[in-house]
Amino acid sequence: MRAALSLTSRIKLNDGNSIPIFGLGLYRAEASTVTTNIVAKATELGYRLFDTAELYKNEQQTGDGLKAAQVKPSREEIFISTKVFTTEGGRHHFLQTFEQSLKKLQVDYIDLYFIHSPQGGHVLEVYDAMLELQKTGKIKSVGVSNFGVKHLEWLINAGRPLPVVNQIELHPWWPNEDIVDYCRKKNIAIMAYSPLAKARVLNDTFVQNLAKKYHKTPAQILLRWSIQNGFITIPKTSNTERLKENMDIFDFALESDDMKALLEYGKMHAANTGWDPTTNSEVKFGPMDRIHTEM
Ligand SMILES: NC(=O)c1ccc[n+]([C@@H]2O[C@H](COP(=O)([O-])OP(=O)(O)OC[C@H]3O[C@@H](n4cnc5c(N)ncnc54)[C@H](OP(=O)(O)O)[C@@H]3O)[C@@H](O)[C@H]2O)c1
Repeated sequence: MRAALSLTSRIKLNDGNSIPIFGLGLYRAEASTVTTNIVAKATELGYRLFDTAELYKNEQQTGDGLKAAQVKPSREEIFISTKVFTTEGGRHHFLQTFEQSLKKLQVDYIDLYFIHSPQGGHVLEVYDAMLELQKTGKIKSVGVSNFGVKHLEWLINAGRPLPVVNQIELHPWWPNEDIVDYCRKKNIAIMAYSPLAKARVLNDTFVQNLAKKYHKTPAQILLRWSIQNGFITIPKTSNTERLKENMDIFDFALESDDMKALLEYGKMHAANTGWDPTTNSEVKFGPMDRIHTEM
């Protein structure tokens, strides 16, 4: 068990920067004042990490929400991650997308910038452009998302530095153990997306029983499992009460037997909740791979 985790706990990244262990995911947070308000509310409650993407079409509302918050953390305290989707348009599309992200988020640098998935081609070209922007300070940390082991190895074989974060789907029902083991060996931090399995397993009796045992909610059990594993954890909600519920996971710890049992139980019923580009076999990162969207 990791002792003394708190909402302000940060994980040290391979490049010397650090990232909050807990934050707000923004996939399917609508491009409206609902998202502006939830980002503002989250900031006021103490959330400091916000994960968005070109694809989510809510970078503007994320930036507006950070501006609208009644509390004003310094820029250094706020941590913003965003992503380019897709690499199909190569360096040119990436550079345009990146400038748009800065504008919409109303910042002059991005803390962590991701390639959204290892498909679409031109991955190395975009990765190299991200590394260039890192040198200028416009990107603080370079990450990838949905990269399987073979994709990370491919970066090594291409002579590139490894990313400092890999954002992958991760919860007991889809623990992606091979990728987690590999990333741990290579000192790549893991950001767990869909940590609530998109709320699809909250009625499961096994999770409900753990919730009763710890006097917590099923969502809190899953989120605690994630942070206690050391995963950067980014549940999405557009509901203020659930925003509070999700952050209330720092006053208890799951016993190690329960950590293991939950994992083993989830694995028996294995199910991912969306796309899975980690298995994309186009390891040559050719120009035109099949393009999926998140589900
Ligand atoms: N890189 C990628 O390919 C990728 C893919 C998927 C996700 N992500 C990132 O990871 C973040 C989280 O993943 P996700 O949005 O897919 O799924 P998630 O966080 O596992 O689940 C979100 C769902 O759970 C509901 N919910 C949230 N808190 C709840 C609670 N306490 N009790 C009951 N229901 C609750 C939300 O509804 P309400 O909003 O109504 O509360 C929403 O429907 C995304 O927002 C995004 O930032 C990245």
